[in-house]
Amino acid sequence: MQTSSPFGADTQKYWDQRYFLFSRFDEGIQLDREGLYSAKPESIASDIARSLPGSCVLDGFCGVGGSAIGFARYKKSVISIDNNKGKLEMARHNAKIYGVEDKIRFIHADIKDILASGELSFDSLFFDPPWGGPDYSKEKIFNLDMFSPDGRDLIDAARRTKRPFALVVPKNFNMNQIYSLGIPFSVQWNKADQSNLFATIYFEAVDSLQDKEKRTHGEGVLR
Ligand SMILES: C[S@@+](CC[C@H](N)C(=O)[O-])C[C@H]1O[C@@H](n2cnc3c(N)ncnc32)[C@H](O)[C@@H]1O
Repeated sequence: MQTSSPFGADTQKYWDQRYFLFSRFDEGIQLDREGLYSAKPESIASDIARSLPGSCVLDGFCGVGGSAIGFARYKKSVISIDNNKGKLEMARHNAKIYGVEDKIRFIHADIKDILASGELSFDSLFFDPPWGGPDYSKEKIFNLDMFSPDGRDLIDAARRTKRPFALVVPKNFNMNQIYSLGIPFSVQWNKADQSNLFATIYFEAVDSLQDKEKRTHGEGVLR
């Protein structure tokens, strides 16, 4: 068993958590340096899967498949996008280890293009965009424009799909930016050993907002 991280001493704390990320790590899980520090832990991916509505999730940022595998264990189907082919291949391999590869459609593309095309059909969206590496935690406040692609563009594109969507944000995220959007949301803190690791923000679909407005005010005016 390899006890020191193959990706360098600065990733040791992530390597030490590899079984929290993937309980079947020793069955041959594949990841690279970025995958090690950005994969979402198996138990947390399951919590998020239970909170996302519908039977088909569009996973906009697949990585090595941490979230996608968790979703596939609870949903009928998952569509996972990544603009890095190598990551998608690792995700497909990892999904096989969990016996869920048939439930995930892997697409090599830019999520912005996928959303702009409007060609895919799904019930909810999940965004786990890069935070710019482990140094994100050195920032006092993490703003929407520090995601890549820009979190504001992702939220706008997601709202246009008229589907509920979720965005994973770091602990130092500036929640005021979400309040100022003026749309209902809820926050789930994702924890390990009682401490917050990151948060998932859940947004309602625009259609359901319109229905709610109609019920409250008799009109479908969006804020
Ligand atoms: C934080 S990781 C996702 C981790 C994943 N949720 C998991 O649990 O394994 C972000 C991923 O987004 C991919 N990515 C970055 N920009 C992208 C874009 N514009 N479209 C699609 N994928 C992108 C990166 O290649 C990286 O694999």
